[in-house]
Amino acid sequence: MTTPTRKSVTVPMLQVMKTAGKKIVMVTAYDSTFARIVDDAGVDAILVGDSVATVMQGHTNTIPVTLTEMAYHTALVRRAQPKALVVGDLPFGSYQVGAGQGIESSIVLMKAGAQCVKLEGGTTVATTIEAITRSDIPVMGHIGLTPQSVHRMGGHKVQGRQDGVEPGGRQRLLDDAHAVEQSGAFAVVLEGIPTELAQEITSKISIPTIGIGAGSFCDGQVLVMHDILGLSERELTFTKKYIDMKSLATSAFQEFAQDVSNGSWPDDKHSFH
Ligand code: KIV
Repeated sequence: MTTPTRKSVTVPMLQVMKTAGKKIVMVTAYDSTFARIVDDAGVDAILVGDSVATVMQGHTNTIPVTLTEMAYHTALVRRAQPKALVVGDLPFGSYQVGAGQGIESSIVLMKAGAQCVKLEGGTTVATTIEAITRSDIPVMGHIGLTPQSVHRMGGHKVQGRQDGVEPGGRQRLLDDAHAVEQSGAFAVVLEGIPTELAQEITSKISIPTIGIGAGSFCDGQVLVMHDILGLSERELTFTKKYIDMKSLATSAFQEFAQDVSNGSWPDDKHSFH
């Protein structure tokens, strides 16, 4: 549980954590109720991820979610007044046009309550990251298995297994990591890449790396809330169900349905006279 003395986590604090060798913990959340729970658990950062498209909106990938919807979810998370750093995720189509669009979209998320934004890509978005950071909006990068590139990758596939400078190649990922760092990002998510490559990137760049499906050598780890809670349909190699909330919730609803059917709900204690 949160103690009253718990300090709000700031962007510079993540760099301090990397330097001190203290692991960074990030979890996704999309509404006030769960943002409060996640924050009470003491995580360092809450990512209002575009994974909302799959785990809450029922889409098969993250492409459809809009900037307006991301701003809405960011505002819900902000209302929980978390001590954790709130990271707003720029959705597909909100920065691909160029730096100006990236700045404008980032402003939308910041006004909704984000304290920084995250965007996907490396060398190809370096100038956009630079422009957004020059507008005093801290940027978290995201390279490797970038879900918004699902169609280019031909699915949600592990990246960096082959050598090469083409997208998904090992050298390209090293170049992407350096580009993100050089363009001024304060941290970078490494998703779906081999442990050894993530370890190499983590040791070669000065900013913190936050891994998901990238092994244990990253400076921090992130997981999607629904995967931790056992609420998502997917069970991937790199996710872990820490509780089977789906079964617990189903049992609770079944019990309620039974109580209604057999007339034991509501009982006298829960009725007015
Ligand atoms: O949207 C999201 O949840 C993410 C994480 C998987 C890093 O980008």
